[in-house]
Amino acid sequence: MSRRPVVHVLANANLSVIRTPLSGYRSPVALAEIVDEDGQPRRCYLKPCPLGNRALLGEIIRWLWCHTMDVRAPEGAWVVLADPQRLQRHWPTHSWGSELVPCWVTQELDAPAPESRRLALTPDRAAELLRWPAWWRMLAIDLFLENADAHIRNMILLDDDSWATIDGSECFGGSDWTSATLGKRPIIHKLAHQLRLYDHRFRPQETAITNIQSALTGISVTLYALKDPVLHWATGLTDTKEAAALYAHLAARTHLENTPWHQPINPSIGLPGKSTHSTPLAADAPGSSPR
Ligand SMILES: Nc1ncnc2c1ncn2[C@@H]1O[C@H](COP(=O)(O)OP(=O)(O)OP(=O)(O)O)[C@@H](O)[C@H]1O
Ligand SMILES: [Mg+2]
Repeated sequence: MSRRPVVHVLANANLSVIRTPLSGYRSPVALAEIVDEDGQPRRCYLKPCPLGNRALLGEIIRWLWCHTMDVRAPEGAWVVLADPQRLQRHWPTHSWGSELVPCWVTQELDAPAPESRRLALTPDRAAELLRWPAWWRMLAIDLFLENADAHIRNMILLDDDSWATIDGSECFGGSDWTSATLGKRPIIHKLAHQLRLYDHRFRPQETAITNIQSALTGISVTLYALKDPVLHWATGLTDTKEAAALYAHLAARTHLENTPWHQPINPSIGLPGKSTHSTPLAADAPGSSPR
């Protein structure tokens, strides 16, 4: 994590092997082997993005944010442009078209195979998660990026009993966001909900607010650090106008003002020239119960 996080784009030729697809997930996902930009072989998980470019954008931005704020995520991540005929052989019931398919590819985490992972959120595991040093930073990232799909299956318990996080495909309120929907969808962080960090009216508990508040200081610093890659990827995967709207939306809410997570904070960490406009986040939102 000491290197600046960069997502490289690789050609179909860098995709050496696609293994048997995993079953039981919403997306097509398979273990795969790639040769990275330095010619190094890497074992990875490959996720072609049938949900579209905005799902891929969410994956990229969340991964960049996690690395920059020192929240454990797969060490390397790439976009691989895969030959649709190869994908067709592995996922014959999907229709892959005739263009190269952008795939989200993340380095395999040191964890048991998916079929032998323990996924239930037992009370012990809930307590472990809350003790995980990166928990509050991760929650700050997910609230900030409006991750609509933060659940226990996207937390990976590693061989060394620490945690890592994956899956940003539903950031910005869902992979079908547009500039018109940004900030308008009430998002409940499903995992925080399962950990009882919200009360019965979907308001965050007081202690959670205090913890999230200190984690939020990293968000505005990270926004500066990631401005170029965020604009680069958002422009490439949407268009100039949508990218500018997304960046402006993020810049306007670095402190999550006027949300239940917000408390008055030290103005010295604010963004110079930052807009005072803000949008509600996870307010009372019975309609947004965990999916
Ligand atoms: N880098 C990785 N290292 C280890 N396991 C991974 C990695 N990436 C994905 N997986 C495994 O593949 C599964 C599916 O990946 P992912 O969560 O990205 O897809 P999904 O379709 O969004 O799944 P869901 O809808 O259940 O969240 C994960 O739950 C995890 O078990
Ligand atoms: Mg997932």
